[in-house]
Amino acid sequence: MSSVAEQLSQLRMVPVVVIDDPAAARPMAEALLAGGIGCAEITLRTPAGIEAIREAAKVDGFLVGAGTVLSPGQVDECVDAGARFIISPGLDSDVVAQARTREVAVIPGVATATEVQHALRLGLSLLKVFPVGALGGPKLLNALAAPFPDVRFVPSGGVSLANAADYLGVPSVAAISGSWLTPRSALAYGDFAEIERLARATASMLAAS
Ligand code: 3PG
Repeated sequence: MSSVAEQLSQLRMVPVVVIDDPAAARPMAEALLAGGIGCAEITLRTPAGIEAIREAAKVDGFLVGAGTVLSPGQVDECVDAGARFIISPGLDSDVVAQARTREVAVIPGVATATEVQHALRLGLSLLKVFPVGALGGPKLLNALAAPFPDVRFVPSGGVSLANAADYLGVPSVAAISGSWLTPRSALAYGDFAEIERLARATASMLAAS
């Protein structure tokens, strides 16, 4: 496991960010950090994604990654902007290869045992499971852990503050992921106090789990 993958496993929570204004990225990262959450996955779902990665990467002590990375070219753009890990909703061996070329951690999404097998053949052992809630939640993760005891999972999609402890209780879960910490409206209105409050609530939950 790369050191960034280890850091994510220690942080245990990866906020998923959909952001419209790159100027909000730096205060958002500062608010998350102030609330006790030390990383984020900034997605490429908006045109602001790359610039937001560049801004958030300026915050000392904050680990910034890119999400919804769908092509090798996007891997380059994200790494050039300062992303230190790459997350995809699905498994694409070209994206994985380019992340390796650029020497950044890569965490592709899987939804089936077939995809876990494919990921293992690519030498990966930390995998996003997406969309975990729709796929079966903690039961799915426990079922996958039986044939794949060396794989660690990052469940995402349907994880919330209310059910996070159920996911963290699954032994194969390295970290959880979700968008509840950075509501798009709070980012749009510059309500960073709200983001810090949500981060604090999440950090308390992590400490208790
Ligand atoms: C995503 O990639 O959208 C994440 O899985 C976040 O899902 P959520 O909005 O259900 O937390």
